[in-house]
Amino acid sequence: MVCETSLSPSDLIWPLFITSGKDIEEPVSSLPGVSRWSVNNIVKRAGDAAELGIPCVALFPNTQPGRRSEDGSEATNPDNLICNAIKAIKDTHGDAIGVLTDVALDPYTSHGQDGLIDDTGYVLNDETVAVLVDQAVNQARAGADIIAPSDMMDGRVDAIRQALEMGEYYNVQIMSYAAKYASAFYGPFRDAVGSGGLLKGDKKSYQMDPANSDEALREVALDISEGADSVMVKPGLPYLDIVRRVRDRFNIPVYAYQVSGEYAMIEAAAAAGAGDREALILETLTAFRRAGCSGILTYHAADAAKLLNG
Ligand code: PBG
Repeated sequence: MVCETSLSPSDLIWPLFITSGKDIEEPVSSLPGVSRWSVNNIVKRAGDAAELGIPCVALFPNTQPGRRSEDGSEATNPDNLICNAIKAIKDTHGDAIGVLTDVALDPYTSHGQDGLIDDTGYVLNDETVAVLVDQAVNQARAGADIIAPSDMMDGRVDAIRQALEMGEYYNVQIMSYAAKYASAFYGPFRDAVGSGGLLKGDKKSYQMDPANSDEALREVALDISEGADSVMVKPGLPYLDIVRRVRDRFNIPVYAYQVSGEYAMIEAAAAAGAGDREALILETLTAFRRAGCSGILTYHAADAAKLLNG
């Protein structure tokens, strides 16, 4: 009766990595327990999610090296991995599971940056936004329910919103990665999508400085004014103070991404006998809810849902 916070499978979003081929499960070495799945297997994982009461999966492609290019044009190919996965999931499961897709060019570029770069490697904002718009419409056309721009370019939410309206994708939502920090916790993810070894330099010219908090509120305010339906804070646990500030200031759903490095940290701690794995999973996810999250993207989603369902 005095418990202030609840945690249920319906609060979770499960990120899944896609790879080409058929009947493939490819373990990600830096994320024990996480695999890349071929499209036919992703459909099964999406079915698992629905059965467990998880409302949504988030999809990330590991694009074949030959399909990566300087301009990331594979992102706008209607027949790319992510579109094929969206279509296959929707064909099989329909509205039983939501599909969220990332908008950013890093899984498609030969240099691993989220956008188009100039000769010095600097990411060009406006040129990138034009491509992101096409990428978002490409995903909406394939059947994505939620478009999640993770690129952190200025003005992209407004541009994507307008393009979705023009394309009559009125029911497609935008969850913006509004406060995304230039973090050391993304390493295993870059391994999973295959961009890590390619990335030269860092993403500090467009991702946020971990020392800043007021800036996060300005970014969130901008994205809301541009038409975001919900906003995200990322990474998660080290940034719960940001979640709480956003929650208190704005009347919009706030999500957090418990990112790959956080997942790896929990798994490593458990494997080293430094903590009970199940208890660590449930305690950290409860902490996100206490901080004010409407939902959490977590690689532990399926395991957590099993624990919660008893
Ligand atoms: C791509 C993107 C990243 C993550 C989600 N979308 C990596 C990055 O910004 O380099 C990280 C997720 C994770 O670490 O689990 N823009």
